[in-house]
Amino acid sequence: MLADALTIDDLKRMARRRVPKMFFDYADSGAWTEQTYRANESDFARILLRQRVLVDMTNRSLATEMVGEAVSMPVALAPTGFCGMMHADGEILAAQAAEAFGVPFCLSTMSICSIEDVAANTTRPFWFQLYVMRDRGFIESLIERAKAAGCTALVLTLDLQILGQRHKDLRNGLSAPPKWTPKHAWQLATRPRWCLAMAQTRRHGFGNIVGHASNVGDLSSLASWTKEQFDPRLSWADVDWIRQKWGGKLILKGILDPEDARMSLGSGADAIIVSNHGGRQLDGARSSIAALPPIVEAVGDRIEVHMDGGVRSGQDVLKAVALGARGVWIGRPFLYGLGAGGRAGVTRMLEIIRNELDITMALCGLRDIRAVDHGILDRGFAEAAAAPAGPPAAKADEPAGMATAVPERTGAC
Ligand code: GLV
Repeated sequence: MLADALTIDDLKRMARRRVPKMFFDYADSGAWTEQTYRANESDFARILLRQRVLVDMTNRSLATEMVGEAVSMPVALAPTGFCGMMHADGEILAAQAAEAFGVPFCLSTMSICSIEDVAANTTRPFWFQLYVMRDRGFIESLIERAKAAGCTALVLTLDLQILGQRHKDLRNGLSAPPKWTPKHAWQLATRPRWCLAMAQTRRHGFGNIVGHASNVGDLSSLASWTKEQFDPRLSWADVDWIRQKWGGKLILKGILDPEDARMSLGSGADAIIVSNHGGRQLDGARSSIAALPPIVEAVGDRIEVHMDGGVRSGQDVLKAVALGARGVWIGRPFLYGLGAGGRAGVTRMLEIIRNELDITMALCGLRDIRAVDHGILDRGFAEAAAAPAGPPAAKADEPAGMATAVPERTGAC
């Protein structure tokens, strides 16, 4: 059944059939009109690749490094809240799949399985994502717990100190565990396999928070938790404080503007993730893939640049790498894999991405992912279509310029 899934969309359809509506909708949501959520995906489709022939395509390698760690391909599983509601014990299963595949797994602060749960059920270090709350004592304890669990990188999220409004979550009355209303009971009753697996685990709430944070109200709702607890005054000085407390590899997530990217250079961070939080925060912001080139241009090689948002295929991974991303983070596709089939579903997602990435790289005439750069990108379709008929213009073989490789609307800084 899972083997029948050939695309991320196939996994998404399977997940929709298996996961209760409120949790599926949580994954498949953007803020307000979802314009940025949609642009994250659709802007990828406007970037074209150069087809090359008669080059040796044997012995290909996707292996590289992200923040100094060896990875089997430049892909990491992004931190996502409620992962353990897409499937029972979801974070553990996804971490196990990532570990076996040789790619990093990053656990969200708002996960269902706790840091300790994931550490106890994996053998290789994973990464931890931190949200900064007003209670600095609690933040210190989260950092200490991540260190004790052997986490090798801390991903600090910068773009969610106030939660963007996702209409579906409000209408669904999203919470973990779900509330016992007739509407929620019906959503669960129509997903018996999900319920059966959930009945066999005790992990039903936010594992990093429940039993660890004190003096808080409703711990089951992300919306009320963020409103009450997240610190809207988060600043670069706090980033410095966290870097010192953590003392290890630090990745800043949520940079979308070249000016912020330049500021990150003085922060001591090892990498930044170009991200608009999957279109879940500032609706109307540019897509991540459109934001990537000007940020790469602004920071050069002075900090490692990664990206997330809208990645639905290995082609998308390749395009992001070509535009300067040293690491590409995947969120929703792994949640869809998880919902579709637990650990095996996440593995299937990774196989689909790897296969597409590998074959696409080969058809672009390259054998090593570390050699991929903007030279594999074709000039934009609009420009090609506008060119006069006849032999290609002198510049036709040149690598695509950033601005022509991404949509004009969002491509310029
Ligand atoms: C974060 O946890 C989100 O819901 O986007």
